[in-house]
Amino acid sequence: MASLLYLSAIVLFVQSTVAFNCSRPPIYVDIHKRAVHGSDAFQYGSFIGVGTPAQNQSLWPSISQNHTSFAASTYCNNSTLKNCATSTGGLFDFSESSSFQEQDDYQTKDANRNGTFKGIYGTDDIHLYTHYFETDGATQNLVSNTTIEVAESGSITPAIVGMGQASTLLDTLAARDMIAGRTYSLYIGQGFDRAGGAVNGSNTFGGYDSGRFTGDVHRYPMSLNRRNPMAVKVKDIVLSSDSKSNTSLFDSSKFPDTKTTSFDAEITTDQFPLSLPYDVTQNFMKQLNAQEDNTWGDNSLKAASGPSADKPLSLTIVLEDGFTVTIPPEVLINASNITPIQKRDADDTRPYYLSAAFLGQVYLMADYESYSFYLAEAVQKNAPVMPVSFCPKSTPAPYEYPKQNAWVRQGLIGAVIGGIFGGIGIAITAWCFILGCRRRRDEKRLERELEKGRRAKMGQMEVEDVPEFDPPPKSATPFFWKKR
Ligand SMILES: *[C@@H]1O[C@H](CO)[C@@H](O)[C@H](O)[C@H]1NC(C)=O
Ligand SMILES: *[C@@H]1O[C@H](CO)[C@@H](O)[C@H](O)[C@H]1NC(C)=O
Ligand SMILES: *[C@@H]1O[C@H](CO)[C@@H](O)[C@H](O)[C@H]1NC(C)=O
Ligand SMILES: *[C@@H]1O[C@H](CO)[C@@H](O)[C@H](O)[C@H]1NC(C)=O
Ligand SMILES: *[C@@H]1O[C@H](CO)[C@@H](O)[C@H](O)[C@H]1NC(C)=O
Ligand SMILES: *[C@@H]1O[C@H](CO)[C@@H](O)[C@H](O)[C@H]1NC(C)=O
Ligand SMILES: *[C@@H]1O[C@H](CO)[C@@H](O)[C@H](O)[C@H]1NC(C)=O
Ligand SMILES: *[C@@H]1O[C@H](CO)[C@@H](O)[C@H](O)[C@H]1NC(C)=O
Ligand SMILES: *[C@@H]1O[C@H](CO)[C@@H](O)[C@H](O)[C@H]1NC(C)=O
Ligand SMILES: *[C@@H]1O[C@H](CO)[C@@H](O)[C@H](O)[C@H]1NC(C)=O
Repeated sequence: MASLLYLSAIVLFVQSTVAFNCSRPPIYVDIHKRAVHGSDAFQYGSFIGVGTPAQNQSLWPSISQNHTSFAASTYCNNSTLKNCATSTGGLFDFSESSSFQEQDDYQTKDANRNGTFKGIYGTDDIHLYTHYFETDGATQNLVSNTTIEVAESGSITPAIVGMGQASTLLDTLAARDMIAGRTYSLYIGQGFDRAGGAVNGSNTFGGYDSGRFTGDVHRYPMSLNRRNPMAVKVKDIVLSSDSKSNTSLFDSSKFPDTKTTSFDAEITTDQFPLSLPYDVTQNFMKQLNAQEDNTWGDNSLKAASGPSADKPLSLTIVLEDGFTVTIPPEVLINASNITPIQKRDADDTRPYYLSAAFLGQVYLMADYESYSFYLAEAVQKNAPVMPVSFCPKSTPAPYEYPKQNAWVRQGLIGAVIGGIFGGIGIAITAWCFILGCRRRRDEKRLERELEKGRRAKMGQMEVEDVPEFDPPPKSATPFFWKKR
């Protein structure tokens, strides 16, 4: 009852505050490997600092946890995390921060965290860094005096950007009018060890990166009663070796013990492998001759043999509304034969999960003002960074690639004013002035970036020799254009 009242209070509040400033540019924060405070190892995560002076960290995004948390410098004395010294996402020594203030009596918003770590609460400054070109410095958005959690003991990597439905960081950004509203988008990337790829990710607070997705954008309501409120219905899962031979893992004529006809799955970043219904998992194991395994400590199944060049296997997840997400062969069964599907016991009652392996293929956009979220196919390679404001209750749209001759004819300014960017032009222009226009973009830089991107892509999963889209003409290379 109390929660019902709370919910209707939220609804009333949302309805009464229609005045979102959708011209506010979003805050874009990269996700990749970097140096972190208190550790020699480069670690994958969101480029976020904490304290005064800033201690830089790599934070893993969570869409269930509400608090943004950091590992205390003593975390590893008190933790069962494997390779703790190089896996915490950085360490935060709050005694060295002049702005940290502990809050003894703080009531946690993460009561359902399920014992993964314990910490203390306090307020301190959070530094959100935006970093486009490796050769340039980062710019920061300072979120001063905001609630943080400092993890003192536990079993997981506790450096987390908490983007759950009661996210304190998102609430603060919106309440201080630093972003358009409580909207957030995520591409998790594949540059972390478990995924074994090279594609980097990004967070966009109050916006989305319109260059990062393509095709139809699919809308879903949030299920606020779930720990992971973003849930979808899966109506089929198909293994394909080529377009002529598809096997549905729901096919009861092929797999007689199959009862599943569809199931609800929660989207989560809290684990890498997908957790599917028991019968579907059994069918997957039969089809791939897969065995239980625990190489990565996450119970991912191991296939009997790797893909052969002429018969690579991919797995396609079909959602109720027809949105399909394909896990490509190099992710499904790569050279080490570990799949991104977790073992499942017959009596396991936990939710089913579409997890980080799924989000490696998908761009996620969440609107916590209208409690809906959007999914679209992620553009993984050669995506220009194009963060735009995500106005609450609006539907995100992918960036429309201009034809090269359009760039030549009109130039960048012409393109913006001429409306190629449509309604988002104003946001882009604002973004341009704030972040980009001061950058010098000479031909050499562009070529260096191109070359670097080309080299980086050699390590990427799908190696390509040439960029997928035509770069804009050199005379008008826009600030936001970046090789990834
Ligand atoms: C809305 O945001 C824009 C861009 O940040 C700013 O210039 C403008 O003053 C804001 N409008 C209001 C009413 O706050
Ligand atoms: C934590 O462990 C490190 C090395 O393992 C040790 O040097 C340090 O004294 C320990 N700190 C505490 C507070 O126990
Ligand atoms: C985050 O807050 C929401 C809303 O209060 C709650 O339902 C959810 O369980 C919280 N998340 C965790 C991990 O406790
Ligand atoms: C919570 O953690 C316990 C112990 O690790 C586990 O058995 C249980 O399934 C977890 N629950 C959820 C919802 O993850
Ligand atoms: C943290 O990152 C910022 C932005 O790149 C940088 O200016 C600062 O020097 C870094 N701090 C440390 C201690 O490396
Ligand atoms: C930080 O915010 C709290 C309330 O959230 C306030 O009581 C405190 O005075 C603030 N501290 C500073 C240094 O602004
Ligand atoms: C270890 O964890 C406990 C429980 O979270 C905490 O009270 C204690 O201070 C921690 N010790 C260190 C050295 O961080
Ligand atoms: C296979 O995946 C593992 C992680 O599951 C990764 O460490 C390894 O580099 C990958 N190998 C190839 C060839 O992609
Ligand atoms: C197999 O599935 C793919 C998509 O997953 C589809 O494009 C193709 O038409 C299917 N082939 C057959 C024979 O059903
Ligand atoms: C990802 O980021 C790292 C920096 O940690 C960079 O070295 C690498 O080139 C990036 N990968 C791609 C594919 O751009």
